Amino acid sequence: MTETLEQLENPLLEGLTRRRTPDSCVFVIFGASGDLTQRKLIPALYSLAYRRLLPEKFAVLGAARSEESDDEFRSRMENAVREHARDPFRDDVWQALAGGMRYVSLDFADERGEDRVAEVLQELDEQRGTQGNRIYYFAVPPAAIPILVREVGKRRTADGWVRLVVEKPFGHDLASAREINELVHEFFTEEEIFRIDHYLGKETVQNMLALRFSNGIFEPIWNRQFVDHVQITVAESIGIEGRASYYERSGAIRDIFQNHMLQLVALTAMEPPIDFTSEQVRNEKVKVLRSLHTPGPKSVVRGQYGRGFVEGEEVPGYREEPNVAPDSMTETYVAAKLYVDNWRWADTPFYVRTGKRLARRETAIAIQFKSAPHPPFEETAVEGLRPNVLVVHVQPDEGVTLSIGAKVPGAGMQIRSVNMDFLYGGAFRTGLPEAYERLILDALLGDQTLFTRTDEVQEQWSLVDAIVAAWPRDRPAFPNYAAGTWGPPSADDLIRRDGRAWRGH
Ligand code: BG6
Repeated sequence: MTETLEQLENPLLEGLTRRRTPDSCVFVIFGASGDLTQRKLIPALYSLAYRRLLPEKFAVLGAARSEESDDEFRSRMENAVREHARDPFRDDVWQALAGGMRYVSLDFADERGEDRVAEVLQELDEQRGTQGNRIYYFAVPPAAIPILVREVGKRRTADGWVRLVVEKPFGHDLASAREINELVHEFFTEEEIFRIDHYLGKETVQNMLALRFSNGIFEPIWNRQFVDHVQITVAESIGIEGRASYYERSGAIRDIFQNHMLQLVALTAMEPPIDFTSEQVRNEKVKVLRSLHTPGPKSVVRGQYGRGFVEGEEVPGYREEPNVAPDSMTETYVAAKLYVDNWRWADTPFYVRTGKRLARRETAIAIQFKSAPHPPFEETAVEGLRPNVLVVHVQPDEGVTLSIGAKVPGAGMQIRSVNMDFLYGGAFRTGLPEAYERLILDALLGDQTLFTRTDEVQEQWSLVDAIVAAWPRDRPAFPNYAAGTWGPPSADDLIRRDGRAWRGH
């Protein structure tokens, strides 16, 4: 189809021109009264509806413990869309989506609730023509997942397709992840399971693949011969935002390192897949995860924030947050030196760090290249020159920067590092979609490329298990960094020992 200018410029018509439309279905959200549903899922569904990317025959069934009527649910979701959606509120778009919204109040452990869900699903099939196709989105605490998998699995019928979308954390360690995987596989095939890692839905994370595999110039230098080291930072300025009951058990290593961080490592280090199918992309990622060498205790640093100032405001320390134990040993910061033991990367360190209440919000992947072998300039000429760095700015200020040496204008020869920038905001006219829009659409289309496979999740856990096994032997004196700083001094030592420094501070 030739795209007319009007179609290209009208985001509402994007669905007609860009991708195929998903099959009719019901999108069932377990955990519909939670934060994720309001802040991310429903606003993402609205944005998909706004772009006409949803199937014509579509319904949403929210299920959660709280008592609510269909109308109350719709009106709460309308407020959520008005507050959180990235697109302007359009009544016609909202009415079309809300027309197919229902709510069931249930206790997940009570089978009668599941029967009620099954009944409403059948009604929706009859009223909305959704043909027995179901997405079950589990936005629930980990303990509820096994119960729901069993209940939904038992009620499977031969009509239509079923897909499960499971939020992280997928288990608490390798053993529990294996248990959940085994249970899920009793009722569902791997092709029916979509384990979400929302970082994979971020445009800038996918751009790593575009950058590496659509440009001829990077591949020859993307290896140990030319790369000195890699730095990956997932820094947040926010604290735990009232999620103590989850975070106390999870800490930074299970909350970010196990999933988002290791996925960023995998995408940076993976070999080119032979094609962009979900199997091939995930095969290559899992090879990287398998090649990760378990770092010894000296190569891992833990931190916990104390009181401090973030963006000019005084904030409490982690142990002072509501519902956090006053002697909590939960880490809110982790840094590690990782090695990918394969031919491409042997002996090239990947320094990774993530933390809450750091100086600013920034997620970036920096590929630091080796210095030029023999700069034919005087030493004083290159004092302001740093080795080339390619930085993928995942967020904020999404884009890519390459720092290069350039001559300072004027007499003589002075060389300084300058940046070549690509900024999404400047290069493309459209705004960046939310990660959840992309991932929900992919689940509706049955495309698993951006979801994690059983073996990936298990590899991620086995590395985390090996790291945390060493922790009881050494108890850092927490808190060991002030909120609003870049983490504990020991994290600086971790990289400084190797004659290097963290970027950006
Ligand atoms: C979630 C973590 O997976 O990712 C949160 O549970 C964290 O603790 C969030 O704040 C960060 O996501 P983003 O998209 O804001 O970088």
